[in-house]
Amino acid sequence: MPRIVCVAGARPNFMKVKPVMDALESRGAEVVLVHTGQHYDAAMNDVFFSDLGLRPPDRHLGTGSGTHAEQTARVLTAFEPVLAELAPAAVVVVGDVTSTLACALVAAKAGVPVGHVEAGLRSRDWDMPEEVNRVVTDRLSDLLFAPSPDGAANLRAEGYHADQIHLVGNVMIDTLYANLGRALASDALHRNGLAAGEYALATLHRPANVDDTDMLAGLVRALGEVARQLPVVLPVHPRTAAQLAQVGVPDGLRLVPPAGYLDFIALQASARLVLTDSGGIQEETTALGVPCLTLRDSTERPITLTEGTNILVGRDPERIVATAARVLADPPAKRSPALWDGHAGARIADALLAYLGASTRLRPTDARGTMTTA
Ligand code: UD1
Repeated sequence: MPRIVCVAGARPNFMKVKPVMDALESRGAEVVLVHTGQHYDAAMNDVFFSDLGLRPPDRHLGTGSGTHAEQTARVLTAFEPVLAELAPAAVVVVGDVTSTLACALVAAKAGVPVGHVEAGLRSRDWDMPEEVNRVVTDRLSDLLFAPSPDGAANLRAEGYHADQIHLVGNVMIDTLYANLGRALASDALHRNGLAAGEYALATLHRPANVDDTDMLAGLVRALGEVARQLPVVLPVHPRTAAQLAQVGVPDGLRLVPPAGYLDFIALQASARLVLTDSGGIQEETTALGVPCLTLRDSTERPITLTEGTNILVGRDPERIVATAARVLADPPAKRSPALWDGHAGARIADALLAYLGASTRLRPTDARGTMTTA
């Protein structure tokens, strides 16, 4: 059976790579887990490995933080010799972080087939570093695993070959369902003095929201207004922590350290409202049926708006406060997108192994050469 390298680098990668690894290994593939080291704090990294039952990485590149160029360059130079030594049949990258792009680039140049899990998502906001990562990673990939029909449609519109596009569902939801029972048994609410259904949960870490102190102050003011109605808990990402010190925190907004996976799922599942600028949380709240306000001007996950509980509210404080009041009074109904059923990892493993096992096939690299423009 083939050797397949699975790459993870940052917090939102860990829960996406786990179901793919499990499905590949259960079908007999040899999986090598490479961790780039983009996230390294215990709260951003270690707790996810223990919560998810993810084995320690087989290779750790130890690249750490830096500017985008520094971080990308470090992953490129560290991954290249590891890939050459491992000589896998394929590399699987997940999500849209810098490590995803860097490892896809190394593999593509080495002639190793790349599978991209979470392909085709587009915010159409080129100011987001993740949007650059998404578009370029897809272009470098041989197999494009889309979580939702909008992702597959984006890829078709961009001219990708039909053979490359696999609509497989959402691996993040695989992991959510696999761990929901354990998460609900967590004492995270009790530890934080919260009662189920009587608090709001917030996260903020996008550069566009937290790097500018005026923008962050407006968002924090809005959270403070919401906190007049019910307590708002904000687990603080390291990027946000330093900025918050300059902005001040209103009464009612409770800052807590970044939560582990199980605790954070527990906090989401029992929240009356979630306010976030994360990508994955838009999906998890939809699967859980919890109302979500996305504090951004765009989303690469529009299916959570049309078939979920998400509302794209923007960054205007008054609009956030007004929408929160409306949603608290009249929450949206739970709906779940097709194929968000806990089996996306299995579909990915089947498609990847079929691709690798096909004796005569058109390499999608060849197909890409004939890509039409939309
Ligand atoms: C990255 C991803 C983002 C994802 C987020 C989840 C990119 C471009 N962005 O953003 O898509 O939503 O992860 O958290 O890849 N830091 C620590 N400890 C850590 C990691 C980071 O203190 O373990 C601090 C460092 O000061 C670092 C900063 O956080 O400079 C930002 O980390 P970085 O990995 O560059 O991006 P994130 O904002 O975490």
